[in-house]
Amino acid sequence: MGPPRIAPSLLACDFARLGDEIARVEAGGADWLHVDVMDGHFVPNLTIGPPVVAAIHKVATLPLDVHLMISDPWRYADAFLDAGADVLTVHLEVIERGDGHGLLQKIRARGARAGLALNPDAAIERVAPYLPALDLVLVMSVFAGFGGQKFMPEVLGKVRWLRQRPEFRGDIEMDGGIGLTTVAACAEAGTDVFVAGTAVFGAPDVPARIAELRRIAAEARRGGPAHPPR
Ligand code: DX5
Ligand code: ZN
Repeated sequence: MGPPRIAPSLLACDFARLGDEIARVEAGGADWLHVDVMDGHFVPNLTIGPPVVAAIHKVATLPLDVHLMISDPWRYADAFLDAGADVLTVHLEVIERGDGHGLLQKIRARGARAGLALNPDAAIERVAPYLPALDLVLVMSVFAGFGGQKFMPEVLGKVRWLRQRPEFRGDIEMDGGIGLTTVAACAEAGTDVFVAGTAVFGAPDVPARIAELRRIAAEARRGGPAHPPR
C-alpha cells in the first residue's frame, strides 16, 4: 500500500500558466501529476492532447498520471506514451468494446503502467477479467467529464472489493470531489492515490493543502481520528 499519494489534477489549474502551476504543486509536495484527457465524445468536455502532455513532460519531474477519457484509446495510446505518460489509464466502458487485453498489454510492453478507470455506474466486477494485467484501478467518484463535482460515497465499496482481490497487486486511485471532507473515507476504504483538482488548486495555500490531505488520509488509514477540516 505505501504512504498515501496525492495527485493534483491539472484540469483545475490556470492553463495560461501551466509551467508555473506544475512547479507550484511539485514544490508543494505532490506525488504524481494527474492529467485529464477528454475527447468531446466519450465525455462531453474537451481538454488537451499529446502535444500538451509532451510539453508538461518537458518541465515536470513527477510521474505523469494520464487519465484518458476518450473513445478510441487504441488509436492514441502510442501518442500519449511517446508524450511521456508514466501511468496510462483507459476507461473500462471503452475497452470492453474492443481488444482491451491487447491495449493493456501494449501499455505495459512500452514500459508504462497500465490503468483502468470506471465510472460510478459501472459494476466493479466488470474489472475482474483485467485485474492481472493492471498496475492501477481508478475508481471514479464522480462521472468523468468535469472538475468540481460532488463526491459520490456510494463508490467506496468498489475500493474495498479491490482490496480483497489477491490477483490485483496494483494501486487503487480515486478521482472526483476529493477534498478535506471526503479524503478520510477514501483512505479508510483502502485508496492509495488521491486525485484532487479543485481542492488543491483552489486552496489559499497549496503546499499546506497537499500536506493536510496526506495527513488526513494517513490517519484515516491507521484507523486514527480523521480530523475534520477547521
Ligand atoms: C473528472 C476528472 C477529474 C477532475 C477532478 O472527469 O477525471 O480528474 O479533474 O477534479 P475535482 O478534484 O475538482 O473533482
Ligand atoms: Zn481524472
